[in-house]
Amino acid sequence: MMDYPEFVLPSVSELPDAGMINCTSPSNIALVKYWGKRPVQLPENVSISFTLDTCKTTTSLSYKKKDKVSEDFDFELLFEGKPKLDFKPKIQNFFKRIEVYLPFLKQYSFSIETSNTFPHSSGIASSASGMSALAFCLMQLEKKINPTISEEEFLKKASFLARLGSGSACRSLEGPITVWGEHDGIKGSSDAFAVKFPNNIHKNFDRYQDTILLIDKGEKQVSSTVGHDLMHGHPFAARRFEQASENITKLKEILISGNLDAFIEVVESEALTLHAMMMTSLPYFILMKPNTLSVINKVWEYRKKTGSKLCFTLDAGANVHLLFPNSEKDQVLEFITNELVAYCQNGQYICDKIGLGAKLL
Ligand code: DP6
Repeated sequence: MMDYPEFVLPSVSELPDAGMINCTSPSNIALVKYWGKRPVQLPENVSISFTLDTCKTTTSLSYKKKDKVSEDFDFELLFEGKPKLDFKPKIQNFFKRIEVYLPFLKQYSFSIETSNTFPHSSGIASSASGMSALAFCLMQLEKKINPTISEEEFLKKASFLARLGSGSACRSLEGPITVWGEHDGIKGSSDAFAVKFPNNIHKNFDRYQDTILLIDKGEKQVSSTVGHDLMHGHPFAARRFEQASENITKLKEILISGNLDAFIEVVESEALTLHAMMMTSLPYFILMKPNTLSVINKVWEYRKKTGSKLCFTLDAGANVHLLFPNSEKDQVLEFITNELVAYCQNGQYICDKIGLGAKLL
């Protein structure tokens, strides 16, 4: 039996001939981390993230109806204006996974042009923004075919499709905070797509800042797929998955109450737990660099000295995301330029903040 038949586009008679769809979709930073998945691209644990604003992918999808349905998917790929052959297998695989839900794919010839606002191979994962942008464009095409789809169904399916491209991508369609994975405390939550955090968020989190320190731009030591796989048979996996769920329960209360001390504790603990999982898998690996640790220690010192609510999180790499309230922006940026830039590769960092998700241009 097919999984999730509710996401299959009902049969249609008319398909639009040709056109172009432009959209942007941001990256996101997890507060409770997704680490561990089962086929096909379903999470072993629930995760929650801030949707970002500045770090995003812009995608143009040109489509042209063909006279004859082809055997295979017909698409060309341009990244920052140049053909990008090494992305093709990933998109080919993505199309294969989503074809059952978008049965018109082989009736078109596509040209996909993308660019990112963040520097290439900066260690910022472009899969979340890239896959959510492409899923969003494809849903805009579906909407031309099926115009009665509601806004809610549209976003749900866009997230569902994005997930099949890259797990964390499903959390980028909406903002400011989304949850992916079934959880009793989160209304409407599902393993198949992400939902917008359904409760009112305390004003302490308005325009929350994320400054990304680029510590090491080196090629990824482990692909995320390999990393997720290492949670199978991992000695701490079962407890870790439970803990993620408990942390979502805590964060839900925190996001409602605005308790920033409690926020710091959950977020930093999650970041270190993610890396602890990597350090205790077989094979084991360490993605933090000496400068990552120096920054963490500096953040802790700064907090102790000033009472600031600045905290850090990490994804699967050496870069550090610094999270802080908008009210502390000037002081924290001063601290970053005076004391942390020295730990960044070529002094590079990116100032971002909480954002609202994918947009049609
Ligand atoms: C550490 O979404 O990149 O950033 O599903 O294999 O594409 P795939 O993995 P991906 O994994 C992201 C892992 C993480 C944590 C997170 O974003 O929740």
